[in-house]
Amino acid sequence: MSRFPENFLWGGATSAAQVEGGRCEDGKGLSHLDYVYYRGPKIPCNFMLKKDFEKAKAEEDKLNFPNRRGIDFYHHYKEDIALLGEMGFKSFRMSISWTRLFPTGLEETPDPKGVEFYHNVFKELHKYGIEPLVTMIHYELPVIFVEKYDGWASPEVVPHCVRYLKFLIDEYKDEVTYWLTFNEINMVTAVPYLGGGILLDRYDDFAIPKGFRPFGALPEAMAKRWNNASHQALHHQFIASAILVKYAHDTAPQCKIGNMFNLHHLYPETPSPADAYRAHEESEYNMFFCDVMAKGSYPKWILSYYRKHGIDIKWYTDYEKILSEGKIDFISLSYYLSSIVTADPARQERIGSFIRTLKNPYLEDSQFGWQIDPTALRISLNELRDRFGLPIFIAENGLGAFEELGEDKTVHDGYRIEYLRKHIEALAAAIEDGVDVFGYTPWGCIDLVSCSLVSMSKRYGFVYVDADDEGNGTYKRYKKDSFEWYKKVIAINGEDLT
Ligand code: BG6
Repeated sequence: MSRFPENFLWGGATSAAQVEGGRCEDGKGLSHLDYVYYRGPKIPCNFMLKKDFEKAKAEEDKLNFPNRRGIDFYHHYKEDIALLGEMGFKSFRMSISWTRLFPTGLEETPDPKGVEFYHNVFKELHKYGIEPLVTMIHYELPVIFVEKYDGWASPEVVPHCVRYLKFLIDEYKDEVTYWLTFNEINMVTAVPYLGGGILLDRYDDFAIPKGFRPFGALPEAMAKRWNNASHQALHHQFIASAILVKYAHDTAPQCKIGNMFNLHHLYPETPSPADAYRAHEESEYNMFFCDVMAKGSYPKWILSYYRKHGIDIKWYTDYEKILSEGKIDFISLSYYLSSIVTADPARQERIGSFIRTLKNPYLEDSQFGWQIDPTALRISLNELRDRFGLPIFIAENGLGAFEELGEDKTVHDGYRIEYLRKHIEALAAAIEDGVDVFGYTPWGCIDLVSCSLVSMSKRYGFVYVDADDEGNGTYKRYKKDSFEWYKKVIAINGEDLT
């Protein structure tokens, strides 16, 4: 007998910015991610400063913007969904592009062609019995909010965003039951441009240090701007999300709305109380993003954390009521890695893209330095159960790797099967521990543009897409070895993972 519940939502995940392409077709507008340009095979690009943004605008014809091409899902969606159907997907996590519906973000009514596109996608999914799980905002912000405003740190974004979010419920509530408001809401404080369209040096009130790299020690003025702008942006996102949740509960009670946060499990480097406290504090910080959305209020300790770190934001008079009325129905998360923290954070190195950690000698790394740790997933799921008592959806998990199509027109990705097998095992163990997990959608089920590297060469899929970082290739789809393996896992509801 399978350890997974009947009707478990096996599937895969993508986002509009990373797959759709067709960026300017049918009246679509551009988002802030369309200005992130490729800088090399292992260089994280999503940390944008003013000069990067200005360069992207000034050299639009010369630079390489992979997000504008995606994998051309806009024209391939029928073929792609047929492949998901063949694998037996029960669920497909996708996002809607705000600027395909509201090209500048300021329109009062949406573009009918954009509206129609998503109706067509949902229709196609339902044809194969696939339940869409839709992220309303997977990092995309209409670019005007970067040009004219301070990204999500400006309160002006909120009413425009709320109009977009409510429209989604009004228009698609009969086709989509499961919704997530903001993808990885905690990323706005880690990578302010990616998560919030914030150019940290927008107001030029500090000089960017020579050789600056994200997460190094920050000069005081920069740390202040980072802390204040990104937490202000986060507060605006919490408010927009809570307004939407209440609206959906009032007008479309059949819909279930979740949050989405990036879970990274943290270990202390040593049993020293100082290391243990730092790990505890960082874990609490990671969980606070869920606290606000699931419990409907800021936990008391975070307010003293804000004071300790000099975080000073504008709260608004009604915010407590808004948050308390907009509590989510389920928790969703992305999980890729665990990290080690120490009382002396300067010793932690940035690995892969965004996370700073020490090397864990007990774990293997991916080709991108992400420390692979299925057990931490089991531990974290147990903690989430105890803290929130809500159903949980694993919205992302997976292994990014450099891959090439072989002469036999496939990719022998046994390493991916091994990675997923171990994580699904951990998931099954967590379910046996009593955690209510109702779905699992591995990231990038079809190869797509990497978020951090903005390139095609970091691949996650069961399906290979013949496209390179420069946009060369046929864009044809090919099944990897993991395709048949995952198909079998789904068919027998995870009973046998060999
Ligand atoms: C998550 C994001 O952070 O990780 C995705 O929600 C992203 O958009 C995924 O693609 C994997 O990260 P990367 O940088 O390997 O693409």
